[in-house]
Amino acid sequence: MCGIIGVTARDRDVVPLVLEGLVRLEYRGYDSVGVAVNAGGSIIVRKGAGKIADVRVRVGLDRLSGSTAIGHTRWATHGPPTDGNAHPHIDCDGMVAVVHNGVIRNYASLREELSGRHRLRSETDTELIAHLIEEGLRRGLDPLEALARALARLEGSYALAILVAGEPDRIYFARMRSPLILGLGEGVNAVASDIPALLHITRRVVTLDDGEFGWISPDDVAVYKLGPGGSYTRVPQAEVASRLKTVEWSVEKASKGGYPHFMIKEIYEQPQALTDTYNGLLDDPNLGRAAGLVASAERLYVVGAGTSYHAGLVFSYYAARVSGVPPIPLIASEFKVYENSVGAGDVVVAVSQSGETYDTLEAVRSYKERGARVVGVTNVVGSALDRESHVTIYIRAGPEIGVAATKTFTSQIMALQLLALAAAAATGRMDPGEARAEARGLSRASSVIADAIRDSEPVAKLLATRERGWRSLYILGRGLGYPIAREGALKVKEIAYLHAEAYPAGESKHGPIALVEDGFPVFLVATSDSPEIAGNALEMAARGARVMVVKPRDMSLELPQAPNIAVLEVPGGGILMEPYALTPFFQLLAYYKAVQSGYDPDKPRNLAKTVTVE
Ligand code: F6R
Repeated sequence: MCGIIGVTARDRDVVPLVLEGLVRLEYRGYDSVGVAVNAGGSIIVRKGAGKIADVRVRVGLDRLSGSTAIGHTRWATHGPPTDGNAHPHIDCDGMVAVVHNGVIRNYASLREELSGRHRLRSETDTELIAHLIEEGLRRGLDPLEALARALARLEGSYALAILVAGEPDRIYFARMRSPLILGLGEGVNAVASDIPALLHITRRVVTLDDGEFGWISPDDVAVYKLGPGGSYTRVPQAEVASRLKTVEWSVEKASKGGYPHFMIKEIYEQPQALTDTYNGLLDDPNLGRAAGLVASAERLYVVGAGTSYHAGLVFSYYAARVSGVPPIPLIASEFKVYENSVGAGDVVVAVSQSGETYDTLEAVRSYKERGARVVGVTNVVGSALDRESHVTIYIRAGPEIGVAATKTFTSQIMALQLLALAAAAATGRMDPGEARAEARGLSRASSVIADAIRDSEPVAKLLATRERGWRSLYILGRGLGYPIAREGALKVKEIAYLHAEAYPAGESKHGPIALVEDGFPVFLVATSDSPEIAGNALEMAARGARVMVVKPRDMSLELPQAPNIAVLEVPGGGILMEPYALTPFFQLLAYYKAVQSGYDPDKPRNLAKTVTVE
């Protein structure tokens, strides 16, 4: 999740406007920054790794000037955060400059094809787009045509802003599955990833749709719809005008995309994050390498802390089912338990959003010293875990600002499901075609989670406002439902400061049920592998508990009508979709409970986003 901006104005230096926009976009990524200015016959680029405040001084961004410029703030997805990988990226002759947010899925095959004909300067997918446009221009196509042909070659997601030398008043743009809006002012027009980046320029915005591309000049805008094979048609000006909206938000509210807190914004970002995870990984050669390691493991460990441990439990569940290599799940700080039995031939899958968690890194280092190979699963390119791992799988969820992990949990699950399926093909337990088809089916996760958020939110909100007397609650699950229950309980504890205990539902009658009395809240996470959970719901209800079963709509569950048993139905779609269907309810319950109690969900007490101590 990077941030992009482009501004073009009549007789005015736009670089300060671009820099101000980049400051407001920095929450979307802070690995590197860069700006390109169209100087007519040529393009000037300045960029570097680091935060905007530092790069600004180091490479002299403020000394640039010009009336048409683009800028970028990066969240690394291909290649580490270095000066060379910073955007904008240019073609061989420096005539095209591109900034990009998104992930090009067919990166590996495009890179192989283009590396024979072009001088590639970076490890990014973005640079390839500049070279594709260059090829069109060399064939004599005009820039719009060259852009359309280039877009037709791309698979995955992109929001692009592009400068072409010789077109000093134009910024070309394109959108596919990554956010992009136009800002229309008086003698100044702009394009950006989101509204906050534009509010100092104009409040009049047009949201673009997937498959749209075109150009802006200081006084004009043209939008086209991409068709098959690079064909296109113009979107009528009246239709573009009908989408024009005036934004009323304050800048402060806008930096959270209109949401009151980052946590709720990030819960709502899950459909996009899952799309980015899926697009980034489906054809990523690292996934195949990691699957090869997993498939060949003598013993397989999966290690993580907090939410990442829960994602590891979900992985254990799928890997044991499909790949025939059942992992040993391990809480990172407990790594010493197995330390002495680790040896060469073993593999550790280490899961960490930040890639910097002390306990996880200690576990990785200890097992590595004993000969184990490491597959890192992280959101942060260039993090310590990335550097320690033999193979890294990036989840590409974009920066998570709220302390509670939300979108990174579901993106970790997506990455780990893909790993389990690829490992199943590698061990021969699944036919490769079948494994690939299952993996392709994961593209549905994005719409499943969007529907789950829609179905869960009113109930979570209602419970949070109505049930003010709760002091303690259980969340029970069986099979796949148990790690989801654990993650739900963690969210409720850390954000709402309410005691929530997750338990395997079957085990709950061996002790925890003693606490249950009239009105005690018990949630049950029903997953299609465990219809027996109905019996556990009944045991709790019979002791007076207020039972709420959260279940996939397509799962049949025999539950009696009783005043103390409620059912929340969320989308179905099978066992691979159920983490996406069942998780949002608990994220939202924790969020609304915190807000209703007057707590700040973005900065829960005593917690830090990254725990770098023992
Ligand atoms: C929970 C949460 C923490 C982290 C844990 C591991 O919402 O955020 O429990 O999951 O500190 O962090 P990473 O994934 O960065 O290793």
